[in-house]
Amino acid sequence: MEKVLDVENVSISFIQYTKGLNQRELKVITDLTLDISEGEILAVLGSSGSGKSLLAHAIFGILPDNANLNGKIKFKGKTLSQEDKEEIRGKDIVLVPQSVNYLDPLMKISDQAIGLTQSDEEKKQKKIKQREIFEHYNLGPEVDEMYPFQLSGGMARRVLVSTALLSDPKLVVADEPTPGLDEKTVEETLNHFRHMKEDGIGVLLITHDIHAALEVADRIGIFYSGYVIEIAKVEDFSGDGENLLHPYTKALYKALPANGFEIIKGHQPLHGEIQQGCPYYDRCEMRFGRCKEERPELISLGEKRVRCFKYEEGA
Ligand SMILES: Nc1ncnc2c1ncn2[C@@H]1O[C@H](COP(=O)(O)OP(=O)(O)O)[C@@H](O)[C@H]1O
Ligand code: SF4
Ligand SMILES: [Mg+2]
Repeated sequence: MEKVLDVENVSISFIQYTKGLNQRELKVITDLTLDISEGEILAVLGSSGSGKSLLAHAIFGILPDNANLNGKIKFKGKTLSQEDKEEIRGKDIVLVPQSVNYLDPLMKISDQAIGLTQSDEEKKQKKIKQREIFEHYNLGPEVDEMYPFQLSGGMARRVLVSTALLSDPKLVVADEPTPGLDEKTVEETLNHFRHMKEDGIGVLLITHDIHAALEVADRIGIFYSGYVIEIAKVEDFSGDGENLLHPYTKALYKALPANGFEIIKGHQPLHGEIQQGCPYYDRCEMRFGRCKEERPELISLGEKRVRCFKYEEGA
């Protein structure tokens, strides 16, 4: 399967002004590497404030002006410049936003889905396609004439998803698509991602909901203090978690209600709190001498990836 997205060694930071005119760099995401193939769902799982939306915004070239971006973002093997991102967003790569607040409140649903197309003929073609896709998502013709505030929760999700699919994207990035939804709508939303996968679309599912991630993803990338500390296969989240690699991922798994709710002591250091060493050092039961001084790299072990010295050759 062809790769649709490669994120290579991406870091995102902000300049913070402290007392006087002193500056310091606040690194929110450090050295992030992940990839998604056609027909694959990769979930990025991270707590609130961990930089998930910034990752999505970096892919679409819509980071705030004061953000510094380093590293490479590739679509189908080609490194994207800011201009490239502007060219392909909304077409080959689309964002499914978190809520209908991203829609124009004063524009009818079908008008926003079709967008500003050039000719009348193009508009006609797009309208036919829009109706087809909306119909597929159980949105009748009456929805075309509605304004965003008239949509129910479930309908709103279906509008956001079907609008995104109108451009035949190769990559869909969904930023927190499930919070605040009732169980039935969550299930329905996750089904939409399954259908995208069946259609060969690569999906980046950004979420803090481990249950949603476990239900639909093929692989799960775990964020910790701005680092990806493991990329695991979904089937590794089973049994006692013995196939999971990083001690944090194992702890996260054991904290699930079905696995005894074992709470992890301590807290996740915020951006800028880690001076040196492994970001998980303070909470790690496997730590040893080197972990306090040096920062582990993300290493590949077959298809899996982990950022922990225990898995380095000879460790
Ligand atoms: N414009 C900005 N200026 C400075 N810091 C920012 C800005 N936007 C985001 N941040 C920092 O980045 C962190 C991560 O933001 P975000 O990607 O929205 O987190 P998430 O989506 O995981 O909840 C925030 O907690 C904040 O510290
Ligand atoms: S590098 Fe050391 S401190 Fe970090 S997770 Fe591995 S064993 Fe624990
Ligand atoms: Mg967010």
